[in-house]
Amino acid sequence: MNDWVLTPEQLNTLLGVLLGLQAWLREALQALGWSGTVAGQPEWPLAWRLSAEVLVFEPGQARRLLWCALALGLALLGLALALWWRRARWPALWLSGLVLWAAPWGSASVWLVPATPTSFHRSPTGFTAQSIVQGQGHYQQHCVRCHGADGRGEGPDAPSLPMWPPNLNGRLLWQRLEGELFWHVQHGLQDHRGQRTMPGFASQLNDEQTWQVLDFLQAQASGRTLAQTGRWEQPLRLPDAPVRCARGQARWLHELQPQRVLLAPSGRDAGATPVDPRLVTVALPLTASASSSTADCVADTAGLAEALGLVLGVAPSQLGGYQLLADRQGWLRARSAPGAAGWSAADLVCRADTAAPAAPAAPGAQAPPAVDGLAALIAQMDAEPVQLLRGGFPH
Ligand code: HEC
Repeated sequence: MNDWVLTPEQLNTLLGVLLGLQAWLREALQALGWSGTVAGQPEWPLAWRLSAEVLVFEPGQARRLLWCALALGLALLGLALALWWRRARWPALWLSGLVLWAAPWGSASVWLVPATPTSFHRSPTGFTAQSIVQGQGHYQQHCVRCHGADGRGEGPDAPSLPMWPPNLNGRLLWQRLEGELFWHVQHGLQDHRGQRTMPGFASQLNDEQTWQVLDFLQAQASGRTLAQTGRWEQPLRLPDAPVRCARGQARWLHELQPQRVLLAPSGRDAGATPVDPRLVTVALPLTASASSSTADCVADTAGLAEALGLVLGVAPSQLGGYQLLADRQGWLRARSAPGAAGWSAADLVCRADTAAPAAPAAPGAQAPPAVDGLAALIAQMDAEPVQLLRGGFPH
């Protein structure tokens, strides 16, 4: 019985349930008036929370946690029985005590990590292009001096700090819960001796601005990763923006879900965006004279071009000819670069972790004329859904 291990799917479900339970607990405590509100959302009043990492990396811990949960459930059941059915009172109480005593509580402390009052906060920005661009402004004003213009931690003040700032372009942002990043930016960080390593910005950035700067950091990290490794390592939403559609059915990009969205920034010389029944095409005219007449929808904010430049890791002026593809859940999955003859499965740059890397084209080899590269890409994208993890919890 003790070497029974949860499958990855079961573990994923368990983590989803645990995240949901903790989020529910903070709502319930606030509704009862036992805890307050911080930054517009119910506060997490405890000094610790469950850690996903321990459960993921040590299979035995997830099992023990389940036993304890089961014991707690049975004990509560016994207690309820004892209250309502007087004749069963003593056996029920005795059994409740017994299961609680037998549960493997000894490991409970390893499941816990320090929490902040905003640990379970969710970003309210909707990851809009506007939010990303405004976040960029806050970053340039407050953060560049330490974290550097490119987020790699080599700003002008960095050498004089007690601790070198981390590279924000790797996994780091996704290893944390977004609410904890929010807290760290507003209230700063300390090392284990209590010495301040990063100042807090609560007096310079309000709540909305803090969420905006986090949107910018994720867009920038994704673009830098794509430029360096050819992949979006972490699932990222298509930045949201207002659109105008022929049949007037949507006013925001996210309202096009659950359809797949092909976003085509087009410059002056770019051909018209092809209409395709498998997706909604959205043109983003980069110049006043760019043609977009055949697309299903037109997006028209300057902010969107800047945000797309960030997630692609290119200057907004170089966007013409790129295309981006978002799946039915709104995740950015594929991009094709200017000059590409068409789509192919190799353009799928945000993939599920379990997927084998796409085989690189042999140097010099002419890619075989794809019968329908887009169909192959869509099939692969649909067969391989991605999941966002933050702090190890599925979101
Ligand atoms: C005075 C230099 C300095 C400034 C200014 C600064 N940071 Fe930091 N930042 C650091 C250092 C140093 C660390 C690493 C601290 C640690 O791990 O204890 C850090 C860590 C971080 C982290 C990682 C947090 C985590 O959970 O590990 C984020 C995100 C971050 N900074 C964002 C920002 C943002 C956004 C701004 C501007 C609003 C900013 N920083 C301004 C020095 C700075």
